[in-house]
Amino acid sequence: MSSRTVIRGGLVITAADEIHADVLIEDGRIAALAASGSPAAQAFTAERTIDATGKYVIPGGVDGHTHMEMPFGGTYASDTFETGTRAAAWGGTTTIVDFAIQSVGGSLREGLDAWHAKAEGHCSIDYGFHMIVSDVNEETLKEMDLLVEEGVTSFKQFMAYPGVFYSDDGQILRAMQRAAENGGLIMMHAENGIAIDVLVEQALARGETDPRYHGEVRKALLEAEATHRAIRLAQVAGAPLYVVHVSAREAVAELARARDEGLPVFGETCPQYLFLSTDNLAEPDFEGAKYVCSTPLRPRDHQAALWRGLRTNDLQVVSTDHCPFCFSGQKELGRGDFSKIPNGMPGVENRMDLLHQAVVDGHISRRRWIEIACATPARMFGLYPTKGTIAPGADADVVIYDPHAEQVISAETHHMNVDYSAYEGRRVTGRVETVLSRGEPVITEREYTGRPGHGVYTPRSTCQYLN
Ligand code: URP
Ligand code: ZN
Ligand code: ZN
Ligand code: ZN
Repeated sequence: MSSRTVIRGGLVITAADEIHADVLIEDGRIAALAASGSPAAQAFTAERTIDATGKYVIPGGVDGHTHMEMPFGGTYASDTFETGTRAAAWGGTTTIVDFAIQSVGGSLREGLDAWHAKAEGHCSIDYGFHMIVSDVNEETLKEMDLLVEEGVTSFKQFMAYPGVFYSDDGQILRAMQRAAENGGLIMMHAENGIAIDVLVEQALARGETDPRYHGEVRKALLEAEATHRAIRLAQVAGAPLYVVHVSAREAVAELARARDEGLPVFGETCPQYLFLSTDNLAEPDFEGAKYVCSTPLRPRDHQAALWRGLRTNDLQVVSTDHCPFCFSGQKELGRGDFSKIPNGMPGVENRMDLLHQAVVDGHISRRRWIEIACATPARMFGLYPTKGTIAPGADADVVIYDPHAEQVISAETHHMNVDYSAYEGRRVTGRVETVLSRGEPVITEREYTGRPGHGVYTPRSTCQYLN
């Protein structure tokens, strides 16, 4: 049985082009594009027509960094795969790549199986997995090869969180050497966690317990130092490197220098670093805890370097690092000791809109918006061109976006399972109207019309951004 949809009259925006075109969808895939009003477009016939006049027609967002139900600091990230992927769809994101976790002493396989069990049958949109490697040993290294073959092609390591996810330089080098052989991509949490833990202890001893000290002890220089070290370890191993959640201007400078040397190193930043700052961490009455994440928010004057990096392609991707904890009962675990505040912020629903606001504000172009939020994450993580673009053969993951609608971001109206918004009261121009996932309407004119279980696991090829 064939099912066809045609989207008429919108401005189709991809990383490469902007064209007024009608889009024909057949059996969940893009079948054809033709200039609106042309005989070819008029010949498109379908059971369902979506009028996109005056709207943008864009690829569904690809969020390459989320943590649904992630265990951390004695609690769990408050969005499940069900609530988190529904909220993602509301915000125009149609694919997430979440992080399965190897526990210390456990195998990669056990971690991956556990995350499959959490996600399967619950997601409204398609999803893939990266693997967090917390315990590098001979067995783990062999398992990396198997995971790459079955579509888990990227591995996160941590230079932070000693005793939890931390890997030392030798373990990092060995994993990078393995990735150089098997085509995997190492994703690095680049902060010098050993030094940070000393500063945490000293701050607490001085009675500095408020959330704002989280930002002070996790110094920009210690992000830059770790970024530099990760780059050089990757260079020695002959492996590409993707640095996650870059927030410090000094870290951007390390990436820029390495890229000028011709090294295959890439950087991701997140909306919280582009739009928020240490001013938020310093909010009184413990409200600053809402903004505790690692790497931490930086002073406002770091933002210009991040925007510049996004324009010059020293930074390639904006993901959310969505890792929500409720203020009530979860963030509050760290009252009187900032080091016990669960690390992470909500945002999977807000990314496409905040980046559209960046278009409105003149930081980036429309095509760059689609590139950093859809096309490049898809290529970086081996999902292109099935995901990340609108072209014949691609999955029909499509967003009808109203660039003129005004909205105010608020926890009152968002769909993430968390009791606050990091962007409460922020006015943005632009709003998701309709979202298709493989041709099926998940959001229809601002109503949820999807279902848990529509979203399927999506195995990935190796990084497509290298060639
Ligand atoms: O604070 C953060 N970023 N929490 C999520 C885990 C991570 O390091 O990405
Ligand atoms: Zn137009
Ligand atoms: Zn991290
Ligand atoms: Zn993360």
